[in-house]
Amino acid sequence: MTSAVSAPAAIPTSPARGLVCRACGAEYPLIAQHACYECFGPLEVAYDEAALARVTRAEIESGPQNIWRYAGLLPAGQDPATRVTLDPGLTPLVSAPALAAAVGLRAPLYVKDDSANPTHSFKDRVVSVALTAARGLGFTRFACASTGNLANSVAAHAARAGAPSIVFIPYDLEQGKVITTAVYGGDLVAIEGSYDDVNRLCGELVETDEFEDTAFVNVNVRPFYAEGSKTLGYEVAEQLGWRIPAQVVIPMASGELLTKVDKAFSELVEIGLATAPEGGWTVFGAQSAGCNPIATALHKGTDEIIPVKPTGIAKSLNIGDPAAGAYAIEAVRRTGGWMDYADDDEIRAGIRLLAETTGIFAETAGGTTVAVLKKLVESGKLDPERETVVYNTGEGLKTLDAVAELVGPTHRIKPSLRGAREAGLLG
Ligand SMILES: Cc1ncc(COP(=O)(O)O)c(C=O)c1O
Ligand SMILES: [Zn+2]
Repeated sequence: MTSAVSAPAAIPTSPARGLVCRACGAEYPLIAQHACYECFGPLEVAYDEAALARVTRAEIESGPQNIWRYAGLLPAGQDPATRVTLDPGLTPLVSAPALAAAVGLRAPLYVKDDSANPTHSFKDRVVSVALTAARGLGFTRFACASTGNLANSVAAHAARAGAPSIVFIPYDLEQGKVITTAVYGGDLVAIEGSYDDVNRLCGELVETDEFEDTAFVNVNVRPFYAEGSKTLGYEVAEQLGWRIPAQVVIPMASGELLTKVDKAFSELVEIGLATAPEGGWTVFGAQSAGCNPIATALHKGTDEIIPVKPTGIAKSLNIGDPAAGAYAIEAVRRTGGWMDYADDDEIRAGIRLLAETTGIFAETAGGTTVAVLKKLVESGKLDPERETVVYNTGEGLKTLDAVAELVGPTHRIKPSLRGAREAGLLG
């Protein structure tokens, strides 16, 4: 017998089964908690393997043109009605032969250009996942501790969702990051200290009664936030025809993004959605010379990360005490990769090289990553014969000061043919 009224389609449920301590393996339910009660280690989302394995390529390919096509592999947002989002993702994977030639790579090179997201950095991915989970957990106000891009994204997401926001930044950020946060409304608190001071204060605020209703995307709901970065791994694999690239170069602040791209690749291979390159993939990390605690520990051969006081123009990467640093080192060592760092002049040169060879204008984080790519080829750490993807995670218009004194009009002429001739434009 057929019914005249069809049953409503079942809303798919989250494949996440709980939170697990990255250090000791203790398990917790899916709640707003980021540190382990047993050992203070960081928590991350653990999944029901069988649920992940049910996700198919066809299902993903017929999904929306944004990160939510991977909802079956994320902890929240399976029901579109529950999403707090600007629908980021599916940003271009740009073939970059001229950049490859300039840095000495002979294999194909691609730039994953995440400046194409709604607030022009990869942070829209992590914020969409964090705030969707946060609203599901009952939070009504949205917050973060930010080096700039996260502030933009949280304020914009809150505006779209009609929710109040309060974001915390160091007082000395680039004007381009401050304005592109303030414009969305919401509270914007500039703190007279470094990002690490901002983060510490947010860790204290989140424990107060006054902030009980507030989700700090990278504090109390950090495990969900971190999962959003996996989509930068899924997307690259899908855009390459469901292949994992042989080498990836990724900027590091907390080190979280790097660990999650690696986690995404592992998941795709485990559930049979993508193929690994021969010999496996290799992960490389990029920092600035003004804030290089993770790369320094790797270079010294230790796991112990000694916090630094950050300096230099790559402010979005200026986290002196990186929460996921040890895990980034683990991923890089396990895959046979390396980390390096670039000074301010090298970062500026990296921004210009990327712009001149690909038409992509990156912020200082992207300049750092391109500069480090070049160094890794020069030092022989990165194999010039293997396919490589370099991640540009942010937009150059937000950090104009970095190159303002280096570039400008190449000619200034009177508005006449004579003026053009005198300037040598007519031969
Ligand atoms: C543009 C940009 N790239 C990369 C990162 C590094 O992210 P993670 O803290 O996950 O290492 C950040 C962090 O703020 C960023 O703003
Ligand atoms: Zn633990």
